[in-house]
Order: sequence, then structure tokens, then C-alpha cells
Amino acid sequence: MKRIGMLTSGGDCQALNAAMRGVVKTLFNSGEEIELYGFLEGYKGLIYGNYKMLESKDFSGVITKGGTILGSSRTPFKTITEPDENGLDKVEAMKHNYYKLNLDCMVILGGNGTHKTANLLKNEGLNIVTLPKTIDNDLYGTDMTFGFQSAVDIATNCIDCIHTTAASHGRVFIVEVMGHKVGWLTLNAGMASGADIILIPEIPYDINKIAEAIEKRKKRSSFTILAVAEGAISKEDAALSKKDYKKKLAESKYPSISYELADQIHELTGEDVRVTVPGHTQRGGSPCPYDRVFASRLGSEAGNLILKGEYGFMVGYKNREIVKVPLEDVAGKLKSIPADASIIKEAKLLGISFGD
Ligand code: F6P
Repeated sequence: MKRIGMLTSGGDCQALNAAMRGVVKTLFNSGEEIELYGFLEGYKGLIYGNYKMLESKDFSGVITKGGTILGSSRTPFKTITEPDENGLDKVEAMKHNYYKLNLDCMVILGGNGTHKTANLLKNEGLNIVTLPKTIDNDLYGTDMTFGFQSAVDIATNCIDCIHTTAASHGRVFIVEVMGHKVGWLTLNAGMASGADIILIPEIPYDINKIAEAIEKRKKRSSFTILAVAEGAISKEDAALSKKDYKKKLAESKYPSISYELADQIHELTGEDVRVTVPGHTQRGGSPCPYDRVFASRLGSEAGNLILKGEYGFMVGYKNREIVKVPLEDVAGKLKSIPADASIIKEAKLLGISFGD
């Protein structure tokens, strides 16, 4: 008999349900007796003992379903060791609930913050297996996270739609793409949709170079498309201390970087600039077929590790293989686009400007 807890934490993404289904199917198909506890709304469920018993049939038909059937929430790692508003020690509470239910293992699906807490719980002696979810693809130790490809599809579709209206009106359009502090999503959606300028946090931009790229493009086309990561940053801002940059953002009159860029581009080029922000649509809806298969494979391997009693790992993807990565090698590290990534070189050869 194995008693397994499961939770999904942090921002949701597509294929969370497909990944859980992969774990659950593998466990139930093994013939081993399984008791499954689904903790609700992320770590909150484990802290406050909020769970529901799950059966194999709860995962019927969920491979196509976006969101998470367990619900999710953000429980910031930086305050996880601080007591809650009623003085409850959150880490002790999670351990208490784990031992009270006599769990053999917790399966935790999440991104960067989630993995820091998962590693902490591992160090506290709990058996943990994790799965890498996030549309940002910024999790260290895996070449890909599930949710990413689905989000690339949505962001690409958004830029495709903008393309036709930009062409009709001869405008400059900025599409602001999610991705937090990294540019994977913007780079991929931007390249897939033929964006002319791609701005990502890893390559700070010079606004004059962006204006030059627009002027150059004007010679052969009436419109320009910029795919801008929400974390894109100018060279001047990148030179600021973290504290000063935060202060600048807090005092800015612009809701996000794209609106500041739109004003600056208008000033420098006289162009009519429009901004589109697809926002959370990028995390929503049904997972794409790639993510359904990918998340199922990762989930299945997580189930396999549990059956073998191998704990303390994230199931990831390296060099086209499903692999297990020690949690301590993942927690607290960000996977940015490397400066020498060949995809950047190739994009530049295609004539895409990064504003650098
Ligand atoms: O990490 C996923 C993500 O969608 C980021 O791309 C984005 O910066 C952030 O979450 C938005 O967070 P929230 O849903 O809390 O607004």
C-alpha cells in the first residue's frame, strides 16, 4: 500500500492535469494498492490540512483540461519559515499533516518558488517527487517545462492576429509576452510569428537601436511587430541597482514596459504605436498536444520513481530524455537564455533585431 499526497502550487499552466493523470495512471496500473490525497490550493492545502481523497476516475477526461483540478495558490518561499497571521509554523504544519496521514510521498507540481519549498521539505525529511510546470520555461535542471509549448502557441496566435491588422493600418505594434524574468516564451513566439524586433530580459536594449530597426524596416514595409517580454529591460535600467530599478518601476506612470517603449518609439520615429497584452490568456485553455504527451511522460516517470521508492527528485527533460534531477540541483536557480545560445545567433541571421 502506498499513500501519496499531491499538490499544484504557484501560477497555473496548461497540462497540470495531464501531468497528474500521468502519475495517477502509472500508480494505479501498477497493481499496487494506492491511497491518493489531493491537497487543495497548493501548499496552503498541506499547511491547513485541506485535502480530498482522489480516485483513478477523478482523472478521466482531464488530459484536455486546462488549469488544475486541485486549485493553486502562491505561497512565497521567502515567508514560508515565518508564522502565519495566527502564529502557525507553516513548515511544521506541513510536516505534521504529512505524518498524520502517514504519507509515503508528496508529488509536487510547480515552478521556481515551488521547488525551493519542495527542497526545504525534502531537507526536513519528507519524501518528495516534483514535476516542472511553468509557461516561463525558466526552471533549472530541465530543458523544457510543461505549459511552455501551449503558451508559445497562444502568444504566437496573438502575434499572428496582430500581424494582419498591423499590415492593414501600417502601424507599429508591440505584443507583450509573459515569461517573468526570462525570454524563452517571447523568443519562441516572436520567431514563430515572424516578429521584426524581439526584446528579452537577457539582452538589454538600446531604444535608439530599436528606432533604427523600425526606420530600416519602414523602407520595405509599412508595419513593424515587436514581441516584448514583460521583463524586457533597457541598458540604462539594467545598469541600475536592484533597489533603484524597483523604485523606478514603482514610480513609473506606465503599467508595464511596453507602454513606456510605445511612447519612446513614437517620440523617436513619429510612428503610431499600439500595445497588445495577451496576459493570462497565455496560461489558459487546453494544453497543446505536445504538452499533453510531454506532461504524461513526466508524470508517468514520477509514478515510476514512487513505485521504486526513489525520492528527492524532479522529473525533467535533458537532451531529449526524461531524467531525474536531484531537487537540490534545481531549487533556487533560474534558467535564462544563455548569452551564446545558438537560437539568438540564428534569429539575428534572420534579420530579427534584439535592440542591442
Ligand atoms: O510564472 C508564470 C507567470 O504567468 C509569469 O509569466 C508571470 O510573470 C506571472 O506568472 C504572473 O503571475 P500572477 O498570475 O500571479 O499575476
